[in-house]
Amino acid sequence: MVREKIKGISLSINEISEKAAKQEDCIRLDIGQPSFDTPQHVKDFVEERIDERQSYTNPKGIEKLREKIAEEENMKEGMDISKENVLVTVGGMGALYIIMTSYLKPDDKVVLNDPCWGPYKLLSAVNGNRFEQLPYFVDGELNSELEEELEEAELIIINSPNNPTGKVHDQQEIEELCRVAEKTETVLVSDEVYNRLDYTGEFETPYGEYDDTLVVGSTSKNHAMTGWRIGWLVADEDLINEMVKTARAMTACPPRASQYAAIKALEEDIHVKEMREEYEKRRETVYRRCKDLGWYVEEPEGGIYIFPDIGKDSWSFCRKMVEEGVAIVPGAPMGETSNTNVRICFGSSSVEEINEAFDRIEESM
Ligand SMILES: Cc1ncc(COP(=O)(O)O)c(C=O)c1O
Repeated sequence: MVREKIKGISLSINEISEKAAKQEDCIRLDIGQPSFDTPQHVKDFVEERIDERQSYTNPKGIEKLREKIAEEENMKEGMDISKENVLVTVGGMGALYIIMTSYLKPDDKVVLNDPCWGPYKLLSAVNGNRFEQLPYFVDGELNSELEEELEEAELIIINSPNNPTGKVHDQQEIEELCRVAEKTETVLVSDEVYNRLDYTGEFETPYGEYDDTLVVGSTSKNHAMTGWRIGWLVADEDLINEMVKTARAMTACPPRASQYAAIKALEEDIHVKEMREEYEKRRETVYRRCKDLGWYVEEPEGGIYIFPDIGKDSWSFCRKMVEEGVAIVPGAPMGETSNTNVRICFGSSSVEEINEAFDRIEESM
């Protein structure tokens, strides 16, 4: 029998995506799927190696890729790691799953921001854990309830640049989060899968600031390579040596061809700058169009999402809009504070498509 906890999970925002997929001429601003394809030089590199023997790799990943990931990570201020600190995983999602299954016993508690990326809740439910969601900052100040929650928890996840809010934590916020995690002896997981899509230049990693920190990275969004499923986790070498056992149990190793692709993407990464520049244009458009509609909205500081408050129930609005040919998702499943927010992905569509989507929204209002 499938466990009750699994049966109880609802992949609620899929409702919008499934309707959108059936609708002709629907503008897709629902899924975090970059509109860019994998860079051609990456595809070519893999093609040239496809006749090689496609055997298992080391469960920690191909050495060369681990080296490239360490170089990529060391571009972050304060980061000084080597390949021994890297475990290559099947997507950032795989890294998160490895962390949760390696660290948490059934019923252990994870603390999540409110709002947060929905699959954190999915992961903790599948893993049999409890989670508590609360806003980490209220009016720019660290939430006074966070410390109390962390006293009871084993793990806190932070995510900057953020999905869904577009927020990038500045140095002071990162320091405050580190101090409260340290004081309560909570493991800090920093999900940095959007780190190269930072429009403020303020991105900070807590790695090096607090010892009990694990970093999650990925090629999915930064390099527009979602389907290759390459992510990683960064931790002390002895922890990597433990967590590789979970990785081994899950997948043996990430696909070899995808690891080649990631090596090339990290080695020759001019596409990141090009995509970021295009995302910045889309960000300006989407922000202006939200404001013109009179929605309360903060300009995204990073990532590919904007999270306006539309001032009414977001589920009915999103259901109506998908019928009108615009797919956006309700904020409600992302946290209790977000019933009147919608998440709009500007990574998945061009400036023209975003403008067309907003014309349709305006018309329907
Ligand atoms: C905040 C966040 N973390 C992790 C992931 C997982 O990324 P991946 O495709 O590498 O599994 C995503 C994907 O949408 C995300 O938005």
